[in-house]
Amino acid sequence: MMATAKNQRIYLDNAATTPLDPKVLEAMMPYLQEHFGNPSSIYSYGRESRMAIENARKAVAQQLNCHPSEVFFTSGGTESSNTAINASVRDLGCTHIISSKIEHHATLHTVEHLAKEGKVNLQFVNLLPNGHVNLKHLQELLEQTQGKTLVTLMHANNEIGNLLPIQKVGELCKQYGAIFHADTVQTVGHYPIDLKEINVDFITAAAHKFHGPKGVGLLFVRNGLGIKPFIHGGGQERNMRAGTENIYGIVGLAKALELSMAEYAKESFYIEQLRNYMLTQLQKNFNKLIVNGSADENALYTVLNVGFPKTEKTEMLLMSLDMNHICVSGGSACSSGASVGSHVINAITQQEQVPIRFSFSKYNTEAEVDAVVECLKKLIG
Ligand SMILES: Cc1ncc(COP(=O)(O)O)c(C=O)c1O
Repeated sequence: MMATAKNQRIYLDNAATTPLDPKVLEAMMPYLQEHFGNPSSIYSYGRESRMAIENARKAVAQQLNCHPSEVFFTSGGTESSNTAINASVRDLGCTHIISSKIEHHATLHTVEHLAKEGKVNLQFVNLLPNGHVNLKHLQELLEQTQGKTLVTLMHANNEIGNLLPIQKVGELCKQYGAIFHADTVQTVGHYPIDLKEINVDFITAAAHKFHGPKGVGLLFVRNGLGIKPFIHGGGQERNMRAGTENIYGIVGLAKALELSMAEYAKESFYIEQLRNYMLTQLQKNFNKLIVNGSADENALYTVLNVGFPKTEKTEMLLMSLDMNHICVSGGSACSSGASVGSHVINAITQQEQVPIRFSFSKYNTEAEVDAVVECLKKLIG
């Protein structure tokens, strides 16, 4: 693991994005240079690019245990979630959506928009005090709904890390004939996912969350669902998403997924220890620390979200940490720094606090955690 030299920045915002793995870059380079052909061209340059895309699709499908025809490459998590939700309403006849108030804005703003336009009836499932979805309430909602329902719930929350029992939710959806979209942006590349074992219709991923490149992701669409094209134009992505493919991005996504799953046991163990170490150190030094989310085995091993009591010293904490070369966030990348605070924290607690999300990767070290805790002590201790 990477050691941190003095004065180097400490990056603990890996839920926002991760640095590219050099091995991923190496796999991408030929497609940025010599293999530049348009995959739709019939001559050899084109065929080489086409082959790279289809091999990447097969590799991804193998990792997720699904059929290659169920994998569509997109620009990332936002596009994938928008597509799944809109297609459920437009093509699958969903008139009712069950979601939660702690979804990523890619989901939340999409379902709210559909409800505002009068296309769906939107309901939010209750949350438990620790931020987990109340499954009993979910079942009650499913029992009551009339018409086709879409359940859109995230597999892991990007701010507090809480994991959804995805298998159980999938079974409930099956029992009540609902379509199930799971935002798996924080779990693909971080946990083995077996799509033959989970009753889910759509899942999403973004390569930059697991040391792949930005601007590329995927949407899994269960075979036989019968959704219609999302972008019209050429025949790319089997006529579903037109536009010349992001070849090097797609190659990078597949390589990043392959690497992360090959090293899953070792890396997840390492990162979880680091998260637990940080929690222990913070609890030892800050007796008024609030832990947001469950921060246990039912939460992402990569995320630790804690709250400090609001004081003059903590109010500018994110900025003070930045001035000390420490990169963390107050929530998701888009809400960090926003004066409205985090919609996730606001949905689960009334406690006045300054929330900080630390999120870890294989490149972080215990020495970095020590340095951050020392800095926090200096700033607010
Ligand atoms: C849970 C979750 N869903 C969706 C997204 C959106 O992904 P992207 O920014 O790659 O479109 C993110 C990114 O922060 C996320 O964490």
